[in-house]
Amino acid sequence: MRYSLLAGTLLGLEAAALQLGLPTAGELAQKVQATKSRHSALKKRDDVDLSVLYPPHNLSVPIDFFHNDTRYEPHTNDTFNLRYWFDASYYKPGGPVFVLLGGETYGDDRLPFLQKGIVHQVIEATNGLGVILEHRYYGESFPYPSVSLENLRFLSTEQALAEVDYFARNVKFPGIDADLTAPNTPWIAYGGSYAGAQTAFLRVVYPETFWGTIASSGVTEAIYDYWEYFEPIRQYGPPDCISATQSFISVLDGILLKNNTAAIKQLKDAFGFGGVTNNQDFANIFTDIYGWQSTNWDPEVNSPSFYNYCTNITGSLNFPDLEANRSTAASLVAAAGKGNDTATVDAVLNAIGWYGRKLTSQRSSGLTQDQYFTALNDTQWEDDSLDAANAYRSWNYQVCTEWGYIQTGSGAPADIQPLISRTLDLEYLTYFCRASYNRTEPPDVEKVNKYGGFNTSYPRLAHIGGNADPWRPATPLWYPDAKKDSIKEPWLLISHGVHHWEENGIFPNETTPTLPPYPVIYAQQYLKNFVIDWLSDWEKPGYFAEL
Ligand SMILES: *[C@@H]1O[C@H](CO)[C@@H](O)[C@H](O)[C@H]1NC(C)=O
Ligand SMILES: *[C@@H]1O[C@H](CO)[C@@H](O)[C@H](O)[C@H]1NC(C)=O
Ligand SMILES: *[C@@H]1O[C@H](CO)[C@@H](O)[C@H](O)[C@H]1NC(C)=O
Ligand SMILES: *[C@@H]1O[C@H](CO)[C@@H](O)[C@H](O)[C@H]1NC(C)=O
Ligand SMILES: *[C@@H]1O[C@H](CO)[C@@H](O)[C@H](O)[C@H]1NC(C)=O
Ligand SMILES: *[C@@H]1O[C@H](CO)[C@@H](O)[C@H](O)[C@H]1NC(C)=O
Ligand SMILES: *[C@@H]1O[C@H](CO)[C@@H](O)[C@H](O)[C@H]1NC(C)=O
Ligand SMILES: *[C@@H]1O[C@H](CO)[C@@H](O)[C@H](O)[C@H]1NC(C)=O
Ligand SMILES: *[C@@H]1O[C@H](CO)[C@@H](O)[C@H](O)[C@H]1NC(C)=O
Ligand SMILES: *[C@@H]1O[C@H](CO)[C@@H](O)[C@H](O)[C@H]1NC(C)=O
Ligand SMILES: *[C@@H]1O[C@H](CO)[C@@H](O)[C@H](O)[C@H]1NC(C)=O
Repeated sequence: MRYSLLAGTLLGLEAAALQLGLPTAGELAQKVQATKSRHSALKKRDDVDLSVLYPPHNLSVPIDFFHNDTRYEPHTNDTFNLRYWFDASYYKPGGPVFVLLGGETYGDDRLPFLQKGIVHQVIEATNGLGVILEHRYYGESFPYPSVSLENLRFLSTEQALAEVDYFARNVKFPGIDADLTAPNTPWIAYGGSYAGAQTAFLRVVYPETFWGTIASSGVTEAIYDYWEYFEPIRQYGPPDCISATQSFISVLDGILLKNNTAAIKQLKDAFGFGGVTNNQDFANIFTDIYGWQSTNWDPEVNSPSFYNYCTNITGSLNFPDLEANRSTAASLVAAAGKGNDTATVDAVLNAIGWYGRKLTSQRSSGLTQDQYFTALNDTQWEDDSLDAANAYRSWNYQVCTEWGYIQTGSGAPADIQPLISRTLDLEYLTYFCRASYNRTEPPDVEKVNKYGGFNTSYPRLAHIGGNADPWRPATPLWYPDAKKDSIKEPWLLISHGVHHWEENGIFPNETTPTLPPYPVIYAQQYLKNFVIDWLSDWEKPGYFAEL
């Protein structure tokens, strides 16, 4: 499951940050629905509604920071409200402002980091003021009431960076009787994933505004064909689960890539997906390996779907009823040109059993298999409501215009057995770019990579990330020996960590001998130490000039 739609929709939304795979039409509809019902669900789940503890505030900011660039024509002088939250309970005069960028989702999804995660930990250690800042075109920070193609034109990497700079230089925190703007106060910015790339770029582009920044799993290199997404999973995922996935996918591709119509029909029927006409739509069903990204050491946000997937498809037959279908599975394995060994046949049978669950969702939707499983429905990709924006449309726009990150099976080199079908290629996986935004060109990754790509560095810019993170191949840490760790330019790989794991925290009364895991405790302690060290170097701007 790429969006955990059946289990907790909230977990699903959190996990969806930096889109995982290509949702089908049926999943898109469920995702928009989940976004709509999000706030009522949030209240039901939390013991404490965090927006009561931390009420939202707005800062009015310009929509357009680049009046000389034809790209943004027609220009505007209008402003819109950017949402933020803060905690001043640890603040003492002279302390820093520590801002966490919300990235491509609701800012209030990040409030747990203010309550007990990395923001809480740093402001407690530094007498700082903690802030969560929403990103334009996400959450409730929209410049326009719809995200039509024309209204989306101010959603770009450079506009979003300029907006954070403007915020740091102009915000006046309600109830705080002091000027805490940059550069009079030291500002430290933190972000995870896409927001981690933003913090890295902020230090490079606005070094006078941000005294230091921390890029956590910061994807500073935009990549169009991002087949490497699956490499950390292949290398660090549970080995038996990885090999069962590879066996099954090799059978799938062994049949699909031969273009043998009869064998393909037999394959689809054996899985119960005979009503899915398009072969790529069919292949796109078998992508639950994406669940790896949503695994987390923090029990509150961990998605169990990946381990359910693995235990169901690994080992000998887990679905006793399917013993009757063994000969069908064996003939599929033969049609794929693979040896008729029990392990491969079991992998196919287990895949039939596991993915059969998706048929239940499809049937209850009332849609036909084609309607539910296609990723090629123009009507849906054209939805320009704000719910669609939050569910997928804003981030997809960034993907199609600047970032790429299309996770193909086709890109895997011949000597690597991929974890998703090789039929999933750029052409199919970028259909939505054409259908949603009339975008036929590849993304202009240079608009991102001009800030430094894999080599993005600056004094007081830290890179931290998990070695098992599927996004590591888009971060400087993919080349772990490229740089030496130092307090001035920290460089830390979290052993067995996945996606920005040091961002989370739990209450002291929730810790156990294994929670948080030692590498996470170490990363958080290290982070606090280097922030304190950076702050000890801070001098009020102009100090030397005045002497
Ligand atoms: C912030 O702005 C939004 C949208 O413009 C508005 O609905 C909301 O009432 C504002 N909130 C505050 C606290 O001013
Ligand atoms: C617009 O102005 C900024 C600085 O004011 C400059 O850095 C940038 O290159 C200009 N862009 C264009 C397209 O002229
Ligand atoms: C924005 O304001 C400037 C300065 O007042 C003016 O020259 C310009 O025409 C305005 N632009 C738009 C699009 O209204
Ligand atoms: C299978 O068919 C597709 C589309 O018709 C074609 O592009 C591809 O080359 C064919 N592959 C083989 C192995 O014949
Ligand atoms: C398994 O075999 C049974 C009996 O032949 C058949 O009714 C059923 O549809 C098969 N199941 C699948 C998932 O192919
Ligand atoms: C398969 O997944 C389900 C959840 O969908 C889980 O309840 C079950 O325990 C798993 N089966 C095995 C054999 O692990
Ligand atoms: C696969 O092997 C089993 C057991 O060795 C045998 O019964 C079956 O006929 C074989 N099937 C194919 C398609 O070769
Ligand atoms: C595409 O999606 C729309 C809206 O959900 C639906 O009404 C229509 O039947 C779908 N078309 C196809 C060809 O699946
Ligand atoms: C799509 O883009 C092309 C140019 O790339 C343009 O000619 C065409 O009018 C656009 N279509 C729509 C519906 O905007
Ligand atoms: C980083 O920059 C150096 C030269 O400055 C270059 O040799 C190297 O290939 C770059 N590394 C990456 C990963 O781009
Ligand atoms: C743990 O501490 C938090 C914060 O002080 C509190 O809200 C929570 O109820 C406590 N949990 C337990 C199980 O005592």
